[in-house]
Amino acid sequence: MNKISGTLLNRRTIRKYNSAPVDEKLINDLLCMACRASTTGNMQVYSIIITRDPVMKEELAPCHFNQRMVTEAPVLLTFCADFNRFSKWCRQRNADPGYDNFLSFFTAAIDALLVAQTFCIAAEDEGLGICYLGTTTYTAGKIIETLKLPSGVVPVTTLTAGWPAEKPDQVDRLPLEAVIHAETYKDYSAADIDKFYSDKEQRSDSEQFIRENSKETLAQVFTDVRYKKSDNIHFSKVLLEVLNKQGFMNQ
Ligand SMILES: Cc1cc2nc3c(=O)[nH]c(=O)nc-3n(C[C@H](O)[C@H](O)[C@H](O)COP(=O)(O)O)c2cc1C
Repeated sequence: MNKISGTLLNRRTIRKYNSAPVDEKLINDLLCMACRASTTGNMQVYSIIITRDPVMKEELAPCHFNQRMVTEAPVLLTFCADFNRFSKWCRQRNADPGYDNFLSFFTAAIDALLVAQTFCIAAEDEGLGICYLGTTTYTAGKIIETLKLPSGVVPVTTLTAGWPAEKPDQVDRLPLEAVIHAETYKDYSAADIDKFYSDKEQRSDSEQFIRENSKETLAQVFTDVRYKKSDNIHFSKVLLEVLNKQGFMNQ
């Protein structure tokens, strides 16, 4: 097994970091690698905000529902969909940018996520630990204010990074055959669903989750507690408003 396969197969999210500093040059080298990721039309329609200042971390913490990694991690990276820079370039070169629409947001969000994930692979291969923060999409408006993001820029994800101070057990994944389809999509029968989710459901941590949340099934922990319909609808509305405000819903 080469080094990168080992890194990918053995990785886990790291939420606790030790106090060793993460060198600025290392972060820049990793970002250099990350920016070699494929990007739509080679436009690089993303920006990355690096946060190291404890004051800024404190300001960002509520945007991430005060998850402790935000203030404890040495480095925070906010990956943004960014058509501001590219559109400015167009205007300065007598070209008329047509990127104030949802398709362009989606394009830029894909670009931003590809850079983020490539950064994760490079960072983990160096021994750093990372954690994604999904809270970015819930509170994008507040993050926009805090990080002073102009029109045409929307944060899509955040990473905390640092040297690991924990080595949690790896969490499960569905079997490969659950997510792979040969040539065309083969929809799942009830028996397939039973088969593919049975290992996950029988794990002791899943059973603990069910007990702790007083639910009957693991699926209910997702639908009734972790990712509730009412929250999803609320945060969808909030995100659509943010996209509108940032100029991505004009067409
Ligand atoms: C888009 C995205 C958002 C996430 N948001 C959070 C988060 O807000 N807090 C957290 O502790 N972990 C977060 N995670 C980490 C996941 O919980 C983690 O990847 C998943 O449980 C699988 O664990 P593993 O990465 O150790 O394999 C997020 C992961 C992704 C991809």
